[in-house]
Amino acid sequence: MSNDLEFFRHEVLSALAEVTNIRAWDTLRINILGKSGKLTARLKALGGLAPDVRKEQGKALNLLRDELTHCFEARKRVLEKLAIEARLQAERVDVSLPPPPCLVGELSGTIHPINRTTEEISVIFGAMGFSVAEGPDIETDWHNFSALNTPDHHPARTDHDTFYLPQQTPARSTSEQNNTHSLGMCLLRTQTSGVQIRTLLSQEPPLRIIAPGRVYRADHDATHSPMFHQCEGLVIEQGITLSHLKGCLTDFLRAFFDRPNLPVRFRSSYFPFTEPSLEVDIGWSRKTGEIGKGEGWLEVLGAGMVHVRVLANCGLDPRVWQGFAFGMGIERLTMLKNGISDVRSFYENDIRWLRHYGANPFEAVL
Ligand code: PHE
Repeated sequence: MSNDLEFFRHEVLSALAEVTNIRAWDTLRINILGKSGKLTARLKALGGLAPDVRKEQGKALNLLRDELTHCFEARKRVLEKLAIEARLQAERVDVSLPPPPCLVGELSGTIHPINRTTEEISVIFGAMGFSVAEGPDIETDWHNFSALNTPDHHPARTDHDTFYLPQQTPARSTSEQNNTHSLGMCLLRTQTSGVQIRTLLSQEPPLRIIAPGRVYRADHDATHSPMFHQCEGLVIEQGITLSHLKGCLTDFLRAFFDRPNLPVRFRSSYFPFTEPSLEVDIGWSRKTGEIGKGEGWLEVLGAGMVHVRVLANCGLDPRVWQGFAFGMGIERLTMLKNGISDVRSFYENDIRWLRHYGANPFEAVL
């Protein structure tokens, strides 16, 4: 390569190394390799040379063109990578930053009271070693009733005013397919208790779960909605007794209502899937409506020791495994805690109501 060409090569490569963005890169590329670029001009000038000189210089110029084209492409890839890295750096979200004032004031959204209560319940039981389980809203008759020791003509089936779905084939897990029972009709679950069954069929004890979710019953007035929320609880371990149930639920209610001395009362009751069954009440003042004070009692949840037939229906030996279950209405707990009187207001999406009763998303749950 002639000295002149070597000098030109060196000049171009140093300029290319100094280019720091794609625009400058493109300008340089056009300036050298473009139609009226410097290298192109040299190639064009070949035509006026003597044949032997043309041959030699043409070969050198073509080699240089290939080399420079290659170097330009390589530099482009580097610049593109740098541009992406710079963008990622600039757009990094610092999640530890406090929210901007505009999000904390008037314009901010709030956490719906139902979701807030669900979070609070999860945090309290989470601290007691429970994890959160889920089940489908569209449930089989078997999971919602039969496996829970509720025979076909049991009054509980009508008490619940069930919404049945037109006959269809429900999705089944492998463990369910292996069971010989019929899953029956599909329905909108009337209680979250079916998640007890789903959990017992899919997890090995010992286990502690809560299962918050929607439930449905054909009922509509100031204290009943056709769709509402429950939270189920289930503990299966060895040597679990009624004392564990009482201790666990007393601790929960005192933490939830933030009253360390909240009076808690257990009354005997009946559910097909627990034996013995209990209704749980908290102390309440009839006069002032204040929780934890006065002479009155308010029912807040249902509970009991898991019935041996439920354990057997799920393939567990009741002589080895025992446990307790409980179920609470999330609307009811929220209404009591926040002094809300009409359950329908939860679902009206009235922005003033949501602002008033909604929780600040930036505040710790408990
Ligand atoms: N599923 C019951 C209801 O909806 C509540 C409950 C759950 C009772 C678990 C006992 C044990 O009323």
